[in-house]
Amino acid sequence: MTAGFTIWFTGLSGAGKSTLAEILERELRDRGRRVEVLDGDVVRTHLSKGLGFSREDRDTNIRRIGWVCEVLTRNEVVAIAAAISPFRAVRDEVRARVGRFVEVFVDVPLETAIARDVKGLYAKALAGEIAQFTGVSDPYEPPLSPEVTIRSAEEPPAASAARILATLEELGYLESHRQLAAD
Ligand code: ADX
Repeated sequence: MTAGFTIWFTGLSGAGKSTLAEILERELRDRGRRVEVLDGDVVRTHLSKGLGFSREDRDTNIRRIGWVCEVLTRNEVVAIAAAISPFRAVRDEVRARVGRFVEVFVDVPLETAIARDVKGLYAKALAGEIAQFTGVSDPYEPPLSPEVTIRSAEEPPAASAARILATLEELGYLESHRQLAAD
């Protein structure tokens, strides 16, 4: 089974999207798949360099990431996107274009993201030093029917990754690991 597909992580900054993307990247490579990760923080250093955080710029960023995912997916690659992607409409637009699309909502209470504050940005946003910060002064629209919901405050990343892999198997995107081992 070599058909490509896209795993699309969405959720607040600090929810754990990049961590899960990295674990899945390793696991899928171990299973012999070609994988490419598109992380919002990284994409914004080149493909989306110069874009800000207005709704228009975020939508442009997501359309660009989505376009790359679409191209990779039709070339038998597993594309993994990890961007806040706070707006439902553009996520659904990307879903429709990509087709083979698995949306993973990394759900975390805002208080937990603030407590983690891995990059120190929530403190700045709360102090009014960063405008339009998602969850603080800008909206986040959760998906209505994601293929997977991860509550990252309630289980370790390895357990979340295992549940995502199980869903990919159930949906027919991946062969079951046991089956592979038996072949
Ligand atoms: S998205 O909204 O366009 O999907 P993206 O995932 O690419 O966002 O980038 C989010 C990252 O940019 C955050 O993890 C954070 O490090 C940084 N950032 C800087 N300013 C903001 C802001 N106003 N809102 C959210 N994230 C911001």
